[in-house]
Amino acid sequence: MSRLVAKGLTRRAGGRAIVDGVSLELVEGEFLALVGPNGSGKSTLISMLAGLKRPHAGDVRLGGARLDKTPRRDVARAIAVVEQQAETGERLTAREVVALGRTPHLGALSPWGEEDEAAVEAALAAVDMLRFADRDWHSLSGGERQRLHIARALAQEPGIVILDEPTNHLDIEHQLAILALVKARRMTVLAALHDLNHAALFADRIAVMDQGRLVALGRPGEVLTPERIATTFKVAAMIETAADGGCHIRFMPLPHGSQPPSRLPERHDKPRVINLLHGRV
Ligand SMILES: Nc1ncnc2c1ncn2[C@@H]1O[C@H](COP(=O)(O)OP(=O)(O)OP(=O)(O)O)[C@@H](O)[C@H]1O
Ligand SMILES: [Mg+2]
Repeated sequence: MSRLVAKGLTRRAGGRAIVDGVSLELVEGEFLALVGPNGSGKSTLISMLAGLKRPHAGDVRLGGARLDKTPRRDVARAIAVVEQQAETGERLTAREVVALGRTPHLGALSPWGEEDEAAVEAALAAVDMLRFADRDWHSLSGGERQRLHIARALAQEPGIVILDEPTNHLDIEHQLAILALVKARRMTVLAALHDLNHAALFADRIAVMDQGRLVALGRPGEVLTPERIATTFKVAAMIETAADGGCHIRFMPLPHGSQPPSRLPERHDKPRVINLLHGRV
């Protein structure tokens, strides 16, 4: 149940396609990073992949079955989602928020037990939140809340975890720790990230969204080229490749006076970029 396949996903709002014909397969066990500028459709795509929003065209299949025909409980056992604006309405303690992750595993024949207790404790420990366990959720800082919502997803023990900007409120220690943590688990991970260096460091593959379309999908080194970064993100990039095959990207504004390249350049229309590797400007 940890194979998620999307075909031709389209969703419209405000008279335009905000996600436009996106086909994507999550390969079992991979870490797929979803990157793209603000408003490019990442959160909308994530909502459809998680079954929280219906596509206007196309479909999502989970383990071969249509997601919209799969019982909610089965979906919740297979997929955990941490949304960009994760909120908790009621007055709950930190531990109670994480315990919500166990809901899909509970039922008349399987009441709350030691296994659930252990999953909650382990999830709290994994995100370094054990010492906050009895605090009121509303008294926590933005980053602490974010770590807690990730703990809720971990306590759910899903095959697939979908995270929308999981690190945007976190200090650098916890940014790296959370990404390393989800990567180390035997889970399939889809994470929307703004930090392209984090995407390059942790992801097996990167999907690039631009104006609702999936414009690139592949290994970090294939996708994060100066040309792609200039076209989609409107900045110049210097890419330093490490001996181990990893890369580090340095960003700067496009050279003064240059126009950002058009979003869908002609083949001969190479954007102006600085590339340390090839020494050309
Ligand atoms: N109900 C709506 N009516 C009009 N436009 C909408 C509506 N809902 C979303 N949009 C637009 O759809 C686009 C895609 O939004 P989405 O939240 O998916 O982007 P995103 O890539 O997640 O951006 P960010 O990086 O800022 O989180 C945005 O331009 C947004 O303003
Ligand atoms: Mg978003």
